[in-house]
Parts: sequence; C-alpha cells; structure tokens
Amino acid sequence: MSDVDLSGKVCMVTGATSGIGQAAAVALASAGAELVLVARSRERAERAVREIRDASGNDRIDVLLGDLSVQTDIRRVAAEFLDSGRPLHVLLNNAGVFMLQREETVDGLETTFAVNHLGYFLLTKLLLDRLLESAPARIVNVASGAHAYSGGRLDFDDLQSRGGYAAMKVYAKSKLANILFTRELARRVEGKGVTVNCLHPGMVGSNLATNNGFLGRLAMTLVRPFARSNEKGAETAVYLCVSDDVAEATGGYYYNCKQAWPKSFAQNDDDAARLWQESERLCSGSAAPAT
Ligand SMILES: NC(=O)c1ccc[n+]([C@@H]2O[C@H](COP(=O)([O-])OP(=O)(O)OC[C@H]3O[C@@H](n4cnc5c(N)ncnc54)[C@H](OP(=O)(O)O)[C@@H]3O)[C@@H](O)[C@H]2O)c1
Repeated sequence: MSDVDLSGKVCMVTGATSGIGQAAAVALASAGAELVLVARSRERAERAVREIRDASGNDRIDVLLGDLSVQTDIRRVAAEFLDSGRPLHVLLNNAGVFMLQREETVDGLETTFAVNHLGYFLLTKLLLDRLLESAPARIVNVASGAHAYSGGRLDFDDLQSRGGYAAMKVYAKSKLANILFTRELARRVEGKGVTVNCLHPGMVGSNLATNNGFLGRLAMTLVRPFARSNEKGAETAVYLCVSDDVAEATGGYYYNCKQAWPKSFAQNDDDAARLWQESERLCSGSAAPAT
C-alpha cells in the first residue's frame, strides 16, 4: 500500500463512520485519494472525518449525508455527487447491518435486504455512468463468507423475509445478494473500463450487530477477542480498490487479498440476472414490494 499514489483519484466509501469502512477510508486517504463518505449521522460523520484526517494527514474528505435504507436519500446523495461534476474512480459499497429482529424501512422493505443489498444496488446504478466516464474505475462490494449460511439459493418469492425471520439467515441472504450483484454487474460492464469485485473481510471486531441492544453488544464483546482488527478486516477491500494485481480482474470474490470461491449457489448466473430484475423493480418506487 505504501507505494500506491491515489492523488487525483476520487473514492466514495459507504459506512465509513465505523469498523471496516473507516479503516479502509484511512488507507485510501493515506494514499492521497479525495474521499467522499456517505453517512447517515452528521455527528458520527464529523467524528469519522476528524479521525480519518488525523490518521492519514489528508483533509480532502467530504461527506454526503443520507440513510442508505431510504431510497429517496440514496437518490439525493447520488444527485448531489453527480451535480458536483467530480469524477468517481472507486466506489466502495460497505455499509451494512445485522438485525436481530425483523424491521421494515420507510419504503416497506425488510431492513437487512434494503441496506445490505438494495443500498449497494441503487447507489451503484445511479453512479454507474459517472464511473464509466471516469474509467479506469473500480466498484468493490463488501460481501461475507456468511453467505454460506443462507441455506442455499435466494427465495425470490420471499425476498422480504415475511414468511419467518431468522436473523443469521436473512443476513446471509443479503451477503449472497452482494456476490450475485457483483457477478451480474461485472457481466454488464465488461470491457468498459470498470471492474466489479467483492470480498469477505474475515471475522472483524467492528460495531456490526451492536445496534441490537444488550444482546447485540454482548455478542460482539464475546466475539472481539477472536476477531480481526478493523484494519486487518479492511485489507482485502483496499487491495481490490487500489492494487495493480487486480487492475483488470472483475466479477470475483476475494478473501485475504486472494481470489476465493463462494458457494455454488453464489455462482448461479440465472439467480444473479433475476436478482437484478427484482432489484430494479424494488427500486422503481412505483409499487409496494410484493416479495
Ligand atoms: N464485522 C464482520 O465480522 C464482518 C464480516 C463479514 C462482512 N462484514 C461486512 O462488512 C461491512 C462493514 O461492516 P462492519 O463490520 O465494519 O460494521 P460496523 O462497524 O457496524 O459498520 C457499519 C457501517 O455501516 C453504516 N450503516 C449501517 N446502516 C446504514 C444506513 N442505513 N445508512 C448509512 N450507513 C449505514 C454504519 O453507520 P452508523 O455509524 O451510522 O451506524 C457504519 O458506518 C458490512 O457490509 C458487513 O456486512 C462484516
């Protein structure tokens, strides 16, 4: 990383107020990138900007405020960025949640699926033309090895988990969706100068799941001694964002800065294409979600 110079490169990072995203933002800023952080809390964003600036010595850090569970926010954030006229060389989709209880967003969508998958999908789609104009550019999606616990393929008849809610399975499905989205988007932009890859960061002692009251905080306290640091957890994401090794690589799933192979149901290109269609429908804003 020390030999990478990102001067003049604009990198957008979601979920940089904590955990893996903040550690990745420090690494990208340290390499000289101009950062655009997407965050839902002004207070947490201001703290993160201070910490990233202090750790990197780089003060070219802007914030776009928006809640990635709210589609009007995602549209506004994207519009604000596009209106700024800036290029976009790296989009790191990282913001994510683990919800012990089923909740719905203002759009009537199950929250985990909405933030972890549709948040990536809609933001990326709205910024895609700018990424293509800025080529070479990279899209990096933080997925998870937890996709293995999804119980198999996505259930397209119940993407909103109305027919029963098992928190780990719902989270795993959202991370499976990240991998399928990566494959389908990589196919769609192949040969156009924009690469799309995803990764498993390892088990990281971040703030994930600590939004779930005492139980969530207890779980993370117990896990933390065995977990990676945020910096270690960010390594593969940063590698995919900047390394020459993967300048041409696309559509892949990585772990520990090496290509890895997700479960066979995460390599199902029919499901990847169907998920794209369903995601377009769920982001069309025209109808209440049926599934
Ligand atoms: N930790 C692990 O072991 C692990 C393993 C595999 C994959 N991952 C993935 O890694 C990614 C980062 O998670 P993390 O472990 O670093 O967790 P984290 O410390 O909880 O960070 C999550 C980030 O996402 C943001 N976020 C959550 N919901 C949002 C929303 N509705 N709108 C905007 N921002 C939102 C959070 O912002 P606030 O500060 O506002 O909450 C925070 O900045 C996630 O995609 C997660 O699925 C984590």
